[in-house]
Amino acid sequence: MFDQDTLQSRAKPACRAMPDHHYLRWYRPMLAAAIATFSVLAYAQDDTPPRTTTTTAAIASANVLATEAGFETLAQGGNAVDAAIAVATSLSVVQPEASGLGGGFLALIHDAATGKDTFIDSREMAPQAVSEADYLNADGTPNRDTSLNGPLAAGIPGMPAGLAYMAEKYGKLPLAVSLRPAIRLADEGFHPSGALVRSITRKEEVLRRYPASTSKFFPDGKAPQETGIFRDPGQGATLKAMAERGADGFYKGPVAKEMVKAVKAAGGTWTLADLASYQAKERAPIELDYAGYKIVTAPPPSSGGVAVAEMLNILAPIDLKSMDEAHRIHYLVEAMRRAFRDHNEYLGDPDFVKMPLNMLLSPYYADGLRQSILPGQATKSAWLPSVAVKDPGMHTTHFSIIDKDGNMVSMTATVNTTLGSGFVAGSSGVLLNNEMDDFALVAGQPNAFGLIGGSANAAVGGKRMLSSMTPSFVVGKDRLAVIGSPGGSTIITQVFGAILAFIDGKDAGQITAQKRIHHQFMPDRVDIEKGSDIPADVLAKLEEMGYEINDADSWGNMNVVVWDRARNLKTAASDPRNPNGLGKVEAVH
Ligand code: DON
Repeated sequence: MFDQDTLQSRAKPACRAMPDHHYLRWYRPMLAAAIATFSVLAYAQDDTPPRTTTTTAAIASANVLATEAGFETLAQGGNAVDAAIAVATSLSVVQPEASGLGGGFLALIHDAATGKDTFIDSREMAPQAVSEADYLNADGTPNRDTSLNGPLAAGIPGMPAGLAYMAEKYGKLPLAVSLRPAIRLADEGFHPSGALVRSITRKEEVLRRYPASTSKFFPDGKAPQETGIFRDPGQGATLKAMAERGADGFYKGPVAKEMVKAVKAAGGTWTLADLASYQAKERAPIELDYAGYKIVTAPPPSSGGVAVAEMLNILAPIDLKSMDEAHRIHYLVEAMRRAFRDHNEYLGDPDFVKMPLNMLLSPYYADGLRQSILPGQATKSAWLPSVAVKDPGMHTTHFSIIDKDGNMVSMTATVNTTLGSGFVAGSSGVLLNNEMDDFALVAGQPNAFGLIGGSANAAVGGKRMLSSMTPSFVVGKDRLAVIGSPGGSTIITQVFGAILAFIDGKDAGQITAQKRIHHQFMPDRVDIEKGSDIPADVLAKLEEMGYEINDADSWGNMNVVVWDRARNLKTAASDPRNPNGLGKVEAVH
């Protein structure tokens, strides 16, 4: 069911607690054999008083080189936002299968000085000339090729505008400084991860359709090797244009002209006006209280925060702890089922659709949903008014940062499916996303994640497609966590499970390692991650209640940082299912 490239189950990470003055210098040789044996979890203890100043920062990302780029930027006097810019752009170079300049992101920022939480919407948007006909075959059936491959699949990118906005408004360093590590990685090269090499090999047929994709991903005529050096001078030059001219370096001038020329030549519809009109938007996050914790999470155009809020509101008065495991899973799954039913029905770009958010986020609405849960019996999704959903794919990336001053960033970034549209826009080196598929492009037809949206998520020029990305903060009296993960529709249930684990007292390593459970309304089955320690009699009991249980391959690639202020302890962990990630806590001077 899931892409195994980044997701094979790995041994659980080693846990350590380290005093703050000890550096954790986890060095991982780049050679594949060594990389494959590693997964990293770092702990460090602050020796400073709680809640005032600290000396350590924590970063967890899906690639060791990106985590190091973040620390490099902190060491130059940057804050969490500057580090996030370095991490995001480095991931664009070293993990292009998951996210990049040609894609978009959703991010939460916490500003320690003002206590303010805010949300940056850098989601891609449809070009003005979008037309349903471009995604249909001559016989009227959906054309899955144009929705997923090549320039018609690509929305106008959001990442460059979002990063420039964040640098300007919330960063301490000039954008040009935060872009340095990514420019260096692009120009000097790096050892590609096994996941990148396998992604390129798997997408070879699509990549070889386009000359610029071929020269970027098959530099010597063949796919790169983990032991070789992979460079990306085209992207390096585009990053330099951004270093000089900010967002205009990407959306206006030579880079924009080159991208539009390449897109048009390959049958796409982008115009210079589409690029010039793109703007990142700052929005108010969704906030709710659950079990004494404040949950801060993603608003539309993400569906994730609304769905997580609905699930938590449904569970709020239920005493999960006193239940046996089968009943606990029963209530979790029924909350997931009900939230997912609403997910596709109502939500879309808030600038285009009116959404009943007051209703969806209301505890009274949740009361009604809870009352429809049958004690000890699975509700059939078919009994509830239905939209259909199928298996998720597996690319996109999430990273979490807390700097020494308590500023925080939770960012999930994506080009949608592996290597996005497979289309590199000429000499810009920018690999374009295939995010148009996240719209309900053809009425009634499922997208790559099986999501069937309604008119709220129909494609319209200038509109942003609905996302499941759910960057979140969980803030308690003494402990807080920065949480998120990739995984299409499973993002929502991963974040839900991580919030519950954190509230249960788990640290970053335990949260990322926790086995996952997923239900998304349709298909009407419970995915339980292989290797889960749920006992056979509990599974039998669930089957007796009427659940179809699916023993599913691993999914997700979560990166979490936790700050336990009462114990002066920061933990950072990258998902043990991903051998390339790095969670690290280190002193910053
Ligand atoms: O925004 C979304 O919901 C999707 N484009 C995310 C795709 C994703 O997570 C792919 N899988 N890892």
